[in-house]
Amino acid sequence: MAINTSVCILVLAIVFGYFYTTQKPKPFPNVKLNISYDFIIVGAGSAGGVVANRLSEDPDTSVLLVEAGGDDADKFLIHIPAMFALNLGSKEDWSYYTVPQKYSNLGHKNRQDSWPRGKVLGGSSSLNALLYVRGNKGDYDSWAAEGCDGWSYKDVLPYFMKIENVDFSYKHDTEYHSRDGPLSLSDFSSTPLADMILQAGTEAGYKTLDCNGKEQLGFCKSQSIIKDGVRTSTSTAYIKPVLERDNLHVIIDTHVTKVLIENKKAIGIEAIRSGRKVKVLANKEVILSAGAINTPQILMLSGVGPKDHLTELGIDVQADLPVGKNLQDHIMFFIGNQIDKPYALTEGKLSDILTYLKYILLKQGPLGKQVVEVLSFFDTSGSTNDSMKFLNLKDHIRYPMYTKDSEEDGILFVIALLHPKSSGEIKLASKDPFDYPLIDPRYLEHAEDVKTLRKASLQKTTYNFLCKDHKFDSDAYWECIIRTLSVSDYHPTSTCRMGPPNDPTSVVDPKLRVKGISGLRVVDASVMRNVPSGNTNAPTIMIGEKAADLIRGVDTVKTFREKVAKLVQ
Ligand SMILES: Cc1cc2nc3c(=O)[nH]c(=O)nc-3n(C[C@H](O)[C@H](O)[C@H](O)COP(=O)(O)OP(=O)(O)OC[C@H]3O[C@@H](n4cnc5c(N)ncnc54)[C@H](O)[C@@H]3O)c2cc1C
Ligand SMILES: *[C@@H]1O[C@H](CO)[C@@H](O)[C@H](O)[C@H]1NC(C)=O
Ligand SMILES: *[C@@H]1O[C@H](CO)[C@@H](O)[C@H](O)[C@H]1NC(C)=O
Repeated sequence: MAINTSVCILVLAIVFGYFYTTQKPKPFPNVKLNISYDFIIVGAGSAGGVVANRLSEDPDTSVLLVEAGGDDADKFLIHIPAMFALNLGSKEDWSYYTVPQKYSNLGHKNRQDSWPRGKVLGGSSSLNALLYVRGNKGDYDSWAAEGCDGWSYKDVLPYFMKIENVDFSYKHDTEYHSRDGPLSLSDFSSTPLADMILQAGTEAGYKTLDCNGKEQLGFCKSQSIIKDGVRTSTSTAYIKPVLERDNLHVIIDTHVTKVLIENKKAIGIEAIRSGRKVKVLANKEVILSAGAINTPQILMLSGVGPKDHLTELGIDVQADLPVGKNLQDHIMFFIGNQIDKPYALTEGKLSDILTYLKYILLKQGPLGKQVVEVLSFFDTSGSTNDSMKFLNLKDHIRYPMYTKDSEEDGILFVIALLHPKSSGEIKLASKDPFDYPLIDPRYLEHAEDVKTLRKASLQKTTYNFLCKDHKFDSDAYWECIIRTLSVSDYHPTSTCRMGPPNDPTSVVDPKLRVKGISGLRVVDASVMRNVPSGNTNAPTIMIGEKAADLIRGVDTVKTFREKVAKLVQ
């Protein structure tokens, strides 16, 4: 035993030494800024990285990409899929908090929910849980039906196909996928639980399918943006491969403080770089891709936002628009359940020395895989508790998933509300661009949201010590659990939602141009008409790709569109 351990440590030291000396990343190039660029993109996240890559494909177009955070290359925890949560709260996280919530977060300090956001190249795509979910056909069709021309499912599916390069072990709808895009997708799971849960879903009468294929409702293996055990982010897939382009400058550690607007036209940006104020001009456009929290913040600091709010803060109004309103997010709560077999990915297994060695040497084992192994999507409209019968696990299905004897192995069910009726708002706390904005999602304000979440319940949970004032499993009990434990799923959207010209709720038109200001676009999760029925990274990347085509006036997805025409009405 003693020999084994010392051999292991020696091997580990040699391995680390080898990787440290051979794989130490190059320092990020420090460019000298030009006076002007054709396009200035603010924020190198899920959308911004894509837009910078695509616009700079045209050699005659000059592009500046500005990121407040630093480089991702030397942050090794970012790149290890199963360790994603260890980045939360780090220097690479903006670490936002909501304002105290009135209807939710009863179980949280000061009733504030935490809202991590990536502050690093790749933005939140460098920090997120790597799940790849497109959303439901109906999401995009409803955007189009509400006047967002060009955003129906048939219109956006070609862009989802453009972004991906699939390497799936599990059956999927091949005709809905592609193998040529920059984002590598895989569907490997670490534990046998994935197959067991799919089996349980089948026994409960649900379909096993490809949730990013023809239909979404049912059970599927998670698809993740992971290549050979390593995270793929927009930094690694879109920014780093084109860093050498002559017509592209990427600057990091530079905080954009406002968009310069003259005569209703965006002419450039102001930023703080290494403690100094810099001003850069845009010959064509400023593109805000700072995400659903920071894009509205920058717009409001620049005088684009609700008139009353700006006036109250003494900011000159350039355009009176509902910036920051209509904040939507998914909320979720967890139900833990113990199991009697050592199938789960426990902390012990993850931090085992052999697990590390296997990962460092071969990029194999659970560290390189998705920890959320299975997804399932339900239509809860008009349904009773019974439609969630899977979660209300029957004994024969639950076996062998549950027993009270086991202390360690378990399954965590995450129940997320995909179509919240409650919505909130982002406001400025002050005129200081470094002050964090006020985030108020108003979770569970609408009673319907509690009712929908209540449709998911388990007969036994690991937190029966909570909400003891209520009869276990009663509606009141579950309402208490939901209002106590629900937290953000980290999918804020729609704070600069798109809509037709005459729509008073929208900030940008369907070409993502800010209404009333020329030369200014928003391209990120804030433009989503409504939050889609799934995680928001892939839809944001899709938006980046589509926006780039809109801006360049080109059609890069003709062949995909022809394929899609045969699949989708
Ligand atoms: C912890 C976590 C887990 C998640 N898990 C998943 C998941 O598994 N699957 C999924 O699909 N989605 C997931 N999401 C959501 C998804 O990652 C986001 O919806 C998506 O990345 C948003 O993209 P964006 O381009 O709008 O913003 P971001 O990717 O956040 O990019 C915004 C960028 O702008 C920069 N920026 C902001 N302000 C300024 C400024 N003033 N000056 C300069 N730069 C600025 C930021 O630093 C950042 O790099 C998760 C999110 C988080 C935080
Ligand atoms: C910056 O300016 C120089 C000199 O005009 C030019 O050669 C270069 O291409 C510019 N770079 C970018 C990214 O616009
Ligand atoms: C769910 O089922 C319970 C009984 O099992 C019932 O009392 C409750 O009203 C149901 N709730 C909903 C929302 O259907």
